[in-house]
Amino acid sequence: MVRVELGERSYDICIGENRIPRLGELLNFVPKTSQMIMITDEIVFKLYGSRVLEILRSADFKVEPAVISGGEGCKNLATVAWLYEQMVAMGLDRKSTVVALGGGIVGDIAGFAAATYMRGIGYIQIPTTVLAQVDSSVGGKTGVNLPQGKNLVGAFYQPGLVFVDVAFIETLPEREYLTGLAEIIKYGIIWDKDFFNYLEEHRERIQSRDTECLMHITSRCCSIKAEIVAQDETESGLRALLNLGHTFGHAFETLTNYQSFTHGEGVAVGMIYAARLAHHLGIIPVEDLERITNLIIFYGLPVSFGNLKGQDIVVQMRKDKKNIGGKIQLILPTAIGASKIFDDVSEANVAMILDLDR
Ligand SMILES: NC(=O)c1ccc[n+]([C@@H]2O[C@H](COP(=O)([O-])OP(=O)(O)OC[C@H]3O[C@@H](n4cnc5c(N)ncnc54)[C@H](O)[C@@H]3O)[C@@H](O)[C@H]2O)c1
Ligand SMILES: [Zn+2]
Repeated sequence: MVRVELGERSYDICIGENRIPRLGELLNFVPKTSQMIMITDEIVFKLYGSRVLEILRSADFKVEPAVISGGEGCKNLATVAWLYEQMVAMGLDRKSTVVALGGGIVGDIAGFAAATYMRGIGYIQIPTTVLAQVDSSVGGKTGVNLPQGKNLVGAFYQPGLVFVDVAFIETLPEREYLTGLAEIIKYGIIWDKDFFNYLEEHRERIQSRDTECLMHITSRCCSIKAEIVAQDETESGLRALLNLGHTFGHAFETLTNYQSFTHGEGVAVGMIYAARLAHHLGIIPVEDLERITNLIIFYGLPVSFGNLKGQDIVVQMRKDKKNIGGKIQLILPTAIGASKIFDDVSEANVAMILDLDR
């Protein structure tokens, strides 16, 4: 169990293996009299939908599924509007609960529907991808995309419980597994040197999805995220460290129309460029830059953004919603296990690093 300490809005992250049958007892704080909705996507519904429904129903919850198509293309207001219709039709009231069963897409959409339906009803996260288990299901960022950009509409809205079962990871496609690993490496770089060492030392076992390693990794990442969120829930400072590699990554994703990179792949390349820039600015030793690069290469994550031009990437980075007052805000590692927010790196330096050594 990892606790996210947020006063009245505190909650537990329960991490285990094959613990799904215990879901009912962990939901002892959820009223059984009101209807529940289980939001999931088509793939996850086929794999796990009936089992989770059965477990909830055998614990006396009245629950109906709502299945969205899945993928970034459905993370929009039309899907949310459709969900509201289902919620009204099922008779959800203010004591009702939303169960988000799936990856980060399902979690973000379901969380947003819960945040806004009747001005907010309870929800719980059952993340089924690595990315969702170590990152997106924790911390209460919910929302959807607009045609103008990713995650432009949303709310900070914390779940009542995050239920992580690492057994879900068995069926995850390899590319999605690696996407999650990029976020895991991120925690080592920004926050925890020992954890980074662990990722180096156990890399073969991690690559083969060893359960013990997955349990350890998930617990550590959730603890780090819980600690950061407890100190800075709405990202006025510290929480921004979790965006290491993301300003670069989002620019790569957008410029290639989301066709070339998954989120984690963009983040992996972005972390390499953040580390190279940090080394160029003299704030991180070359050994640390090499260790970061080598670990990312070992896991088979991409290290290059193809033939995009440095200047085009910088122009795209300027549009990032995390920037304030038109200045590019960057997270740069200052060592393995430590990082800082910078808003004074010149765009010329960023473009230069992007065009170097390719
Ligand atoms: N809220 C946050 O703090 C936060 C943080 C990071 C990312 N995100 C968001 O998360 C989204 C990406 O999430 P994701 O990477 O989990 O993608 P995803 O939800 O699209 O899941 C990836 C794919 O794996 C499938 N899948 C899920 N679980 C499975 C399982 N156990 N077995 C087999 N297949 C399974 C899904 O159906 C989907 O096709 C993005 O929209 C991103 O913006 C949010
Ligand atoms: Zn991310």
